Amino acid sequence: MTSNKTGDSSHSKFHRLLIDQVRHEFTASHQYVAIAAWFDDQDLPQLARVFYEQSLEERDHAMMIVRYLLDSDVTFALPGVDDIETDFAVARDLVALALRQEREVTDNFQRLARVARDEDDYTGEQFLQWFIQEQVEEVAKMSTLLNVVDRANGNLFDVETFVARDMPSEDNGSQGAPGTAGPSVS
Ligand SMILES: [Fe+2]
Ligand SMILES: [Fe+2]
Repeated sequence: MTSNKTGDSSHSKFHRLLIDQVRHEFTASHQYVAIAAWFDDQDLPQLARVFYEQSLEERDHAMMIVRYLLDSDVTFALPGVDDIETDFAVARDLVALALRQEREVTDNFQRLARVARDEDDYTGEQFLQWFIQEQVEEVAKMSTLLNVVDRANGNLFDVETFVARDMPSEDNGSQGAPGTAGPSVS
């Protein structure tokens, strides 16, 4: 029967969107480095830590999808990253951007799930479940952080205290996470 290894035109829509999602995840990773470096430069080490760690998680998400594509014999070229924002004025802008980005990724995965279902790709649909769950947590985390920044009313040292106390580094390997291509880094 037909193989997926015959080039782009033979990709299912689901696989095409999944390859796009590799780009979105790498872009998110890159964006989070920019955000972390900005906080680092402002001597806000806790906020910097959260975003450096988040960046590694996004890289892992990309590499989970790469693993899935490899295991599914889908031929693909590794995508690059989209442009990111680096021109920030105040802390709130960075956290608001992070929240926006997480909401977009949630929309991406919901679309992927719809397409997998339309194409009767049950394996694909099942692969997405962990990501959909993960997005609930990531949106909630950024939404909390934005609330805290707003409540701190410009006192970023209060935000640092909150982050140190309530957003500790997650011990790696979230339950049931798909495997990455190569070592996972978060
Ligand atoms: Fe992600
Ligand atoms: Fe994320």
